[in-house]
Amino acid sequence: MDEDQGDALELLTEQHDLVDALIEMVESSDDDEEKAAAFRELANQLAAHAAMEERLFYPFVLAKQTEPLLRQSTEEHLAVKRVLADLIELDLDDPQFAAKLAVMKEELRHHEHDEEEDVLFPIVRRMASKEELLALGGEMLALFEAILGTEPSDRVALETDQAAPL
Ligand SMILES: [Fe+2]
Ligand SMILES: [Fe+2]
Repeated sequence: MDEDQGDALELLTEQHDLVDALIEMVESSDDDEEKAAAFRELANQLAAHAAMEERLFYPFVLAKQTEPLLRQSTEEHLAVKRVLADLIELDLDDPQFAAKLAVMKEELRHHEHDEEEDVLFPIVRRMASKEELLALGGEMLALFEAILGTEPSDRVALETDQAAPL
């Protein structure tokens, strides 16, 4: 694999940062069209990120040591998907939109940064070699891009019954 392509954990961290930046854009935009475009991008990025983690990353890092954390992670994805599905249904100028976006932002701050980056990723760094994480990063990016190309935000509402299986 290409040396300047990130490993799995770098890829996920970059995607977290992009999601954070898109939330900031939706929150700060006073142009309706720009805000709608940023929200659509946010919804698709987030849906593709969660699906890719559930299908490739979490199964790869599933071990005795990580299972409780991963079970918590898929529950946190479920909570985020439920708020995201509500947001997708709402008009951007509905007063509940900003409130639900703020709730989702809090949930993501906890899930992406406090749980994944600060707790899970250091464990995974010790579990897997750099080569394994580079190879996994390549597979994850390919799957992410394939999912992103299918407007995954359209399917978020179908994934709100229960957490994804590990
Ligand atoms: Fe996640
Ligand atoms: Fe993540």
